[in-house]
Amino acid sequence: MTPSMAATPTEPAEMLRATLFATVGADLQRVETRLREELRSDHPYVDELVRYGCLLGGKRLRPALLLLAAKACGGVRDEHLTLATVVEMIHTATLVHDDVIDEAGVRRHLATVNARWDNEASVLLGDFLFTHAFYLASTLPTTHACRLIGHATNIVCEGELRQKGLRGRFDLDPAEYFAVVEAKTAELCSVSCELGAFYAGAGPEMAQALSSYGRDLGIAFQLADDLLDFQGDEDTLGKSLGTDLQKQRPTLPIIHLLEQATGRDRSDALAAMRGEVDEPLPLLRSLLAKHGSFEHTLNVASEYARRAAGRLAGLAPSVARDTLSDLASFVVQRRR
Ligand code: IPE
Ligand code: IPE
Ligand code: MG
Ligand code: MG
Repeated sequence: MTPSMAATPTEPAEMLRATLFATVGADLQRVETRLREELRSDHPYVDELVRYGCLLGGKRLRPALLLLAAKACGGVRDEHLTLATVVEMIHTATLVHDDVIDEAGVRRHLATVNARWDNEASVLLGDFLFTHAFYLASTLPTTHACRLIGHATNIVCEGELRQKGLRGRFDLDPAEYFAVVEAKTAELCSVSCELGAFYAGAGPEMAQALSSYGRDLGIAFQLADDLLDFQGDEDTLGKSLGTDLQKQRPTLPIIHLLEQATGRDRSDALAAMRGEVDEPLPLLRSLLAKHGSFEHTLNVASEYARRAAGRLAGLAPSVARDTLSDLASFVVQRRR
């Protein structure tokens, strides 16, 4: 895919802000402003890189989760705007590094930093974003947020490392796959929700419920993402796909396929995953469809989404609570 320079980079964020995230739309707009204020440099080379790397519009899912959790538990305060900015910086840092790891060419509808500049720039930009995020978190009056975010980010990085260690392990126990997904993706969603609740004055039980909601939603989100890596459209998603296959990653669709398929289908699937055939993607797509692996993954993702929505039962009825519930379905059905 060639990066479409014509695409409006902020489009997904703007679209979601006007629709699903409308109840916190004004606050999300403030977070955009905050990101712009924080992420700049007096040094032109650094400034261009930082702006390019972070100010491209993603969906802003984690800030939205944090703000919606806050709203559902009492209301959005100034601390929330800071923390929403922090979690988006951390998320973007992981993406910038992830694109190096995946050797990806497109992200958020534009050339990745590693493609447009190089790996050196990406590693340093990721470091810049991580450290800025922690500096910003430390400006809050208590260490609570810093501790939670530090711990969560460490788990995210450990998850990416664990995933690297599992390359080519197509016989993986699904429980191990779920553990990696929980670490690399769900942890940041979970901590975003927990911080939103905590800084809105929620008690421990409510904060825990929101944390669990974010965790289940994050798992559903990554399962959907693993499906999109085989089934998605690069122009719609605006990122390189097929990287899980290129990196021989045992994601749930593949684990399920190799549990189900026997004989020729199984050996074909293994050969495709190992890069021993010329056109592995169409072959795998047809095997995944034939053995119900897409369907299975979608069903498991939907189950996590249902579980996430169920975690909200103890919250007082509100538009924010309904949005969190709708968001759980959205992450599974999304095409972008
Ligand atoms: C991509 O996250 C990385 C995964 C955890 C799958 P998003 O899909 O939220 O990325 P952006 O922020 O919208 O670009
Ligand atoms: C990324 O997972 C999770 C991170 C913590 C960055 P993926 O590697 O599946 O994310 P995409 O598909 O590149 O966005
Ligand atoms: Mg990736
Ligand atoms: Mg992916």
